Amino acid sequence: MSLWDDIDKTLIPEDELQQRIAQIGQEINETYTDEDCPLLVCVLKGAFVFLADLTRHLTIRHEVDFMETSSYASRTVSSGVVRILLDLERNIQGRHVLIVEDIVDSGRTLDYVTRNLKTREPASLRVCTLLDKPSRRVIEVPLDFIGFEVPDEFVVGYGLDFAEVYRNLPFIGVLREEIYAEPRRG
Ligand code: PRP
Repeated sequence: MSLWDDIDKTLIPEDELQQRIAQIGQEINETYTDEDCPLLVCVLKGAFVFLADLTRHLTIRHEVDFMETSSYASRTVSSGVVRILLDLERNIQGRHVLIVEDIVDSGRTLDYVTRNLKTREPASLRVCTLLDKPSRRVIEVPLDFIGFEVPDEFVVGYGLDFAEVYRNLPFIGVLREEIYAEPRRG
């Protein structure tokens, strides 16, 4: 048995992911200038794979920093409580900030992060997410760059996990239901 056996189907294959990420990189190159020198804020852990590929398509001068949040705590449904586990190293006052996320689901994480970063008075604040799952939205959050809209399925791979596993898969897949379904009681 391997990780691959736990995947029901491939939702976005590796080549489609990479093509779209190159396009997003181009969109970002056309949005900022070298003088802007945007700070890409990677929301850990899920966005680390996306950031690593995205940054290599950027030709504009930029920097990266990391923030870690958690709202799921190994469960399949958001707890609704967002915690900052790791904060930025850099002061963002007056900086052009681009938040990089792997997925926007309920919108709670992004809402929390954007409200938090706005209080630090950046020059501008934009959001780039690889995946958008609008059917699950609880809080509306503006998105500036979107890779793919995905249906309401349990997606893993390319940084997205279930119980911290599957992040290494090079594609976006749908997890087999029996892997994440809670055992019946009684
Ligand atoms: C995931 C994902 C987003 C967030 C999206 O992070 O990376 O940050 O959930 O869900 P939401 O829109 O409902 O808030 P998670 O808290 O699972 O941490 P992880 O990135 O370390 O996996």
